[in-house]
Amino acid sequence: LREHEEFTKVKNIATIELGRYEIETWYFSPFPPEYNDSLKLYFCEFCLNFMKRKEQLQRHMRKCDLKHPPGDEIYRSGTLSMFEVDGKKNKVYGQNLCYLAKLFLDHKTLYYDVDLFLFYVLCECDDRGCHMVGYFSKEKHSEESCNLACILTLPPYQRKGYGKFLIAFSYELSKKEGKVGTPERPLSDLGLLSYRGYWTRVLLDILKKHKGNISIKELSDMTAIKAEDILTTLQSLELIQYRKGQHVICADPKVLDRHLKAAGRGGLEVDVSKLIWTPYK
Ligand code: ACO
Ligand code: ZN
Repeated sequence: LREHEEFTKVKNIATIELGRYEIETWYFSPFPPEYNDSLKLYFCEFCLNFMKRKEQLQRHMRKCDLKHPPGDEIYRSGTLSMFEVDGKKNKVYGQNLCYLAKLFLDHKTLYYDVDLFLFYVLCECDDRGCHMVGYFSKEKHSEESCNLACILTLPPYQRKGYGKFLIAFSYELSKKEGKVGTPERPLSDLGLLSYRGYWTRVLLDILKKHKGNISIKELSDMTAIKAEDILTTLQSLELIQYRKGQHVICADPKVLDRHLKAAGRGGLEVDVSKLIWTPYK
């Protein structure tokens, strides 16, 4: 893989226009050199092509016939849809998405080999089309059992539960594959916060149901969460004891209830019955 270490560079693009939003960017992104003298870029919200001038975008919108991301719609529930985009079949879209995402991802290295990735693009749909709220990428063949490479909720949509929805979705795919998964490291602060929140809620719910009588292995089988992530989560909740050289779950009902009260309730659940998907081969 070709790795590019642009994260030490200074921020170039200050704002982007995407759909009905003007968004301030967070970090540097390695756009092709001819874009680097512009403070603002205009994105087509459907094909993610970007332009330096508003008039160019307006002209583009008159002839762009996409109304949703390319690829297959694999989930629809109410106004939420998820599209699976194969980076090999939709190379330009994949690259555009990476340029866009890097504006909000700091220490992630950007892989230009989009061929090797699938992109799961979450949209809110209305009569004007399907508007991207966020996405995650996933390596087609991961050696480290990573089920998610990069995750992003676009800033106007953050803190509404979409991040946890995307995370939950990545684990539902892993369950269908019959594999455990873990996010690619390093995690950003916000990434860690979201994962911690997701792991905590999922694990606490199961522990409560089973009154604590369950092993880490069983938890991992049920949730597709990697055992190491279960261990660190339960350790941080002080639900683990180390006895005779082994980690054992000690789920005192009072401690469980205290944590459950404190744990955030995700409003957006993945309705698995609405996921129509077969693993990539
Ligand atoms: N300050 C404090 N807490 C926050 C903030 C914030 N700015 N943003 C989210 N949270 C908390 C929420 O309270 C929530 O916890 P809770 O449910 O226990 O209350 C949890 O984080 C997740 O919130 P969501 O609304 O589900 O997540 P959101 O849609 O905001 O997306 C994400 C989270 C994807 C990490 C988003 O912040 C983002 O895109 N950040 C920029 C890119 C990034 O850092 N991605 C992760 C990199 S690591 C990797 O890709 C493997
Ligand atoms: Zn377009």
